[in-house]
Amino acid sequence: MKDLFERIIKDKGPLGKWAEQAEGYYVFPKLEGAISNRMGFNGKKVITWSINDYLGLANHPEVIKADAAAAAEHGMAYPMGARMMSGHTAFHEQLEQECADFVSKEAAYLVNFGYQGMVSAIDALVTKHDVIVYDMDTHACIIDGVRLHAGKRFVYKHNDVESLEKNLQRATKMATENNGGILVISEGVFGMRGEQGKLKEIVALKKKFNFRLLVDDAHGFGTLGKTGAGAGEEQGVQNDIDVYFATFAKSMAGFGAFFAADKDIIQYLKYNMRSQMFAKSLPMAMVKGALKRLDMLRTMPELKEKLWENVNALQSGLKENGFNIGNTNTCVTPVFLEGDIPEAMAMVQDLRENYGIFCSIVVYPVIPKGMILLRLIPTAAHTLEDVSETIIAFSAIRDKLKEGVYKRIAATMM
Ligand SMILES: Cc1ncc(COP(=O)(O)O)c(C=O)c1O
Repeated sequence: MKDLFERIIKDKGPLGKWAEQAEGYYVFPKLEGAISNRMGFNGKKVITWSINDYLGLANHPEVIKADAAAAAEHGMAYPMGARMMSGHTAFHEQLEQECADFVSKEAAYLVNFGYQGMVSAIDALVTKHDVIVYDMDTHACIIDGVRLHAGKRFVYKHNDVESLEKNLQRATKMATENNGGILVISEGVFGMRGEQGKLKEIVALKKKFNFRLLVDDAHGFGTLGKTGAGAGEEQGVQNDIDVYFATFAKSMAGFGAFFAADKDIIQYLKYNMRSQMFAKSLPMAMVKGALKRLDMLRTMPELKEKLWENVNALQSGLKENGFNIGNTNTCVTPVFLEGDIPEAMAMVQDLRENYGIFCSIVVYPVIPKGMILLRLIPTAAHTLEDVSETIIAFSAIRDKLKEGVYKRIAATMM
């Protein structure tokens, strides 16, 4: 027998084993100063493309004022206890109704973290008799929710409607045998590569199969659709999403998340979602802050317009300069390059230190071996100057990558 910690200290885990080389720079970097298009990093100013503050609300004076006023009035503790016990207020209810109205659903229920909420909602929505069918590329919160499921699950190829249909055939057989139902789960926007989930096509399958659809629209909420109600609104199928999810942690630049659906379903979640039944409710400062942000989403369409001006300038500029930005049809802007992991690390260091550009870097196993994904998140806080400076920098680092400069630098770093 071993001491449990012996393995933990030795193995460190798949990411932890890189900590010595990466921590403080590639992982756990410290971005300093107010959240904005240009922040401090490693003693310099960098253009920040890695923050999901889509509408530029994080540092908006009205938001800061609302947050500060709510914290001054209530502190950060109020209300204490779980919603069911002593943590319930009229403001929580008001925010729920406003969220529901914003995404055209009957009712909504708040959760403290999108991640935990999703895990718990999946757990609550299905029993061992039910079958889950989900997209292969979904976020960790969906994967972890599915892990809790005691019944059958099928995974379909990413955004592949044919594969979904095949899996729905198998799921239908299984659910019929078990006298259960089927839950299909997709994202509204796949946050790594920026493709919208094919919600229209998924919904069309409801004519052939009997299933309910849960959509995680973390990146679509506030950024897509005429009113900002997300990917469902953008694709004209919002009514056919049975359970809609969005977090406040992206376009709302806040904290917390919500599920929206028909009244009966939300009522069920209120009484069965363990992450909320057994945890303290969302603090009032967050709730009042979210009410303010939601009001701004409704009344300030210019925020989304500015966001899309920047998105369009960045994506068309990259394409005109020969960059491969995949199949994005959202704000998330991936730039695919070819190279190995050490080259990617040397390139990102050059980008940060010598060109003043800070973006996320994604490598194998998230994407295929030999590929490097630089992921850019444009926001309403960026300027067209940020965009042109970035495209010039990207062209320069691509040339260096092709010339083998980063391979040589990486060799000296090993
Ligand atoms: C698709 C998706 N779902 C859920 C979450 C989790 O949301 P939260 O940050 O509120 O826990 C995220 C955040 O990274 C996300 O990208």
